[in-house]
Amino acid sequence: MSTHAPLIDPFARPIQYLRVSVTDRCDFRCTYCMAEHMTFLPKKDLLSLEELDRLCTAFIGLGVEKLRITGGEPLVRKGILTFFQGMRRHLDSGALKELTLTTNGSQLAKFAAPLAEAGVRRVNISLDTLDDAKFATITRWGRLPQVLAGIEAARAAGLKIKINVVALKGFNEDELIPITEWCAREGHDLTFIEVMPMGEMSEEARLDQYWPLKDLRARLAEVYTLTDLPDRTGGPARYVRIAETGQRIGFITPLTHNFCESCNRVRVTCTGELFMCLGQEDMADLRAPLRASTDDAVLEQAIRAAIARKPKGHDFDYSRQRVAGQMSRHMSHTGG
Ligand code: GTP
Ligand code: 5AD
Ligand code: SF4
Repeated sequence: MSTHAPLIDPFARPIQYLRVSVTDRCDFRCTYCMAEHMTFLPKKDLLSLEELDRLCTAFIGLGVEKLRITGGEPLVRKGILTFFQGMRRHLDSGALKELTLTTNGSQLAKFAAPLAEAGVRRVNISLDTLDDAKFATITRWGRLPQVLAGIEAARAAGLKIKINVVALKGFNEDELIPITEWCAREGHDLTFIEVMPMGEMSEEARLDQYWPLKDLRARLAEVYTLTDLPDRTGGPARYVRIAETGQRIGFITPLTHNFCESCNRVRVTCTGELFMCLGQEDMADLRAPLRASTDDAVLEQAIRAAIARKPKGHDFDYSRQRVAGQMSRHMSHTGG
């Protein structure tokens, strides 16, 4: 379907991975992601399901091969299944290689089977702790049994599961081995993520919760034999194999190891803002061209103009006891 020249940014990086946030809403309030009382966008500002379809189809026409749906919580968006079912045609045509989502798991009991039918093969599920009380603390509104039931449903539907754990000092440090062993037993992939400075939070609270993955990795290496793997899933994770359990563990280290040089992705928010980098302010409005004309040439031109100014990378930095490159934008806005 790539009848048009593919998207290549100024640093010669081909853009083949699109992350689309379909809602800013969520049924949880994770402390590192949202304030407890968020003001959400009015419905008219959101791209409609039809607009989301047009937008994703345009990107696929420009060479995007991997589409990841995020939020907020993507599965709380009304009618979202229709969107997934529509994207199936791009999997069937071979233009799209992977259709997937990142979810908090709360709605999977209901959605796992129909998502699998729509062609989803893999889901990334955020889960920072296996302790009921701690889960309620970190997500504020979430409850662990509901998510575990969602994970079971995903497995039953034949979906491959990756658990995303945000590494938080003093919070889930003591669960490093239990979480690793749980994933090994359950057959889930596991990825640890360094907490990024997004949303409003005091500098002190930031530094307090920052647990560099090189420390986490060293702790794992005290217990297990780790071997670096060359595997790439198209995302930013780098993988190791644990000899003792046989499992694969990913590390996403925007702070201690900047992976921007191989960045292949851009993000669209639920209002149609195209962000060329998670850690920079620059964006392009795609909603206006979408609404201005039914001719996709206008949209395509706006996309190309934006990609032409994709920055080299982010400026996140926790060094020297201060936080730099901080973004006031919440993660729920750009969808992680
Ligand atoms: P797979 O490799 O397909 O499993 O996907 P992924 O790791 O790209 O997706 P996921 O949604 O699980 O992302 C995990 C974390 O990586 C999220 O917290 C993202 O915000 C973070 N992440 C993904 N891309 C970038 C990026 O370009 N820059 C930064 N700083 N973080 C990113
Ligand atoms: N830093 C790192 N990861 C974050 N996520 C949400 N907020 C942050 C943050 N400030 C994670 C979620 C989810 C993914 C999409 O982003 O836990 O796994
Ligand atoms: Fe919701 Fe995910 Fe943000 Fe938690 S991290 S509040 S589950 S969007």
